[in-house]
Amino acid sequence: MLQRKALRMPTSRPTPTFRPDHPESVFTYGAPQLKFGVGAADEIGFDLSRTGAERVLVITDAGVAATGHPQRVADQMTRFGIEASVFDGAHVEPTDESLQMAVDWARAHGPWDAIVAVGGGTSIDTAKAVNLLTSNPGELMDYVNKPVGGGRDPVNPLHPLVAVPTTTGTGAESTTICVLDVLSLKVKTGISHVRLRPTLAVVDPSLTRTQPSGVTAAAGMDILCHALESYTARPYTSYERKQPEQRVPYCGANPIADMWAEKALSLLAGSFRRAVRDGEDEEVRGEMAMAATFAGMGFGNAGVHIPHANAYPIAGRVKDFHPEDYPADHPMIPHGMSVSLTAPEAFRFTFDASPDRHRRAAQLLDPHAEEPDDAAEFLPAVLTALMRDIGIPDGIGAVGYGEGDIGDLVEGTLKQQRLLATAPKQVTGEDLEGIFRRSITLW
Ligand SMILES: NC(=O)c1ccc[n+]([C@@H]2O[C@H](COP(=O)([O-])OP(=O)(O)OC[C@H]3O[C@@H](n4cnc5c(N)ncnc54)[C@H](O)[C@@H]3O)[C@@H](O)[C@H]2O)c1
Ligand SMILES: [Zn+2]
Repeated sequence: MLQRKALRMPTSRPTPTFRPDHPESVFTYGAPQLKFGVGAADEIGFDLSRTGAERVLVITDAGVAATGHPQRVADQMTRFGIEASVFDGAHVEPTDESLQMAVDWARAHGPWDAIVAVGGGTSIDTAKAVNLLTSNPGELMDYVNKPVGGGRDPVNPLHPLVAVPTTTGTGAESTTICVLDVLSLKVKTGISHVRLRPTLAVVDPSLTRTQPSGVTAAAGMDILCHALESYTARPYTSYERKQPEQRVPYCGANPIADMWAEKALSLLAGSFRRAVRDGEDEEVRGEMAMAATFAGMGFGNAGVHIPHANAYPIAGRVKDFHPEDYPADHPMIPHGMSVSLTAPEAFRFTFDASPDRHRRAAQLLDPHAEEPDDAAEFLPAVLTALMRDIGIPDGIGAVGYGEGDIGDLVEGTLKQQRLLATAPKQVTGEDLEGIFRRSITLW
């Protein structure tokens, strides 16, 4: 089952160690309030009525709307005297244009006292942008991270935001970011600010039973990469000591994020393949929802690195790929899929920065796998075996990229310095070129 790759990587330069003069001694941890379990989504009307909310906007996309979950959530709010409107126009994998459309709609039909997102990362991120721009002045691009946008900070508090995930993946219900595609520039980027974090995460695994198998596979790879990347991220102690005003939500690997990541990996070991095979299995759906929540709480504080940085240009420069179980109206490489396609090679590259963590992660993810003679091969082998089993494409070649695209992909990744800064070793354009080249065909 665990095959070795025929291609070997060129010798990598020795790992530079991060030895700051004044090492960081502080890490931070932030998370929304959480309600977890089957039936949790039935209590949102009650919970919102306690906040005094009278007009609530429910944000979702057409696919999730078709399951009836968002309307059911809206209906139980009416029982508490809350007027709830459903906006089902979120665009799967939001763009600047789709977010602008949602913001325009919300501004035209507001004001709102609270916002509820029912859906995957698409709906939750759309709700974050709507929340920001219905409570603060200015336009979308003012707030998008520099250098693409103005990197402006909100001046006003945001509305309460309840995030109700219907996929088992992004952890967006816990995080402080909103991801979007800027269409004219062909780049994926984000808005990142601590006030974007939802006030309450309501994780009800019963809403994920309708999640199609292809979405379960891609979104599950997102959970896995969140856990693996935050676990292998550069430790918080390897940074220079920050001043209080310099602190950012992503502070590097730390003991609390490690704990969430390890537990998420164990849950995935037991449930991931089964969830893709049989979406009706309630126990497995519960474990996947738990894994997504745990990994979100981990990476939402530690950060992610090379696979996520590579995913930005992989998804942003899509040519003509139409994945099964996603809307067919536009080409796309789903977030979890684009993150996973270079992950085996990225972890082969980072192995020497923390061999023990890479080996431990592989053991947690597949307790029955035998460690190969070359320990650097262990995690890549466990990962590719899983990807094959759940039907993830066998590399970036299968989603439309070849040798001729590598320069553009590397350039796109190098723009994600915020993420690359969390990598456990320095990564150059040449290193990325090697990772992309060896990821054209993974097996
Ligand atoms: N903010 C963050 O922290 C963060 C983190 C990772 C990814 N993201 C973003 O999240 C997006 C991806 O989100 P995702 O993977 O959760 O998927 P998604 O929200 O894009 O949904 C994928 C597809 O599944 C359908 N779907 C979702 N739940 C369903 C259900 N229960 N039943 C039936 N159909 C369902 C949707 O209609 C859609 O067609 C990307 O835009 C990505 O960039 C955000
Ligand atoms: Zn992700």
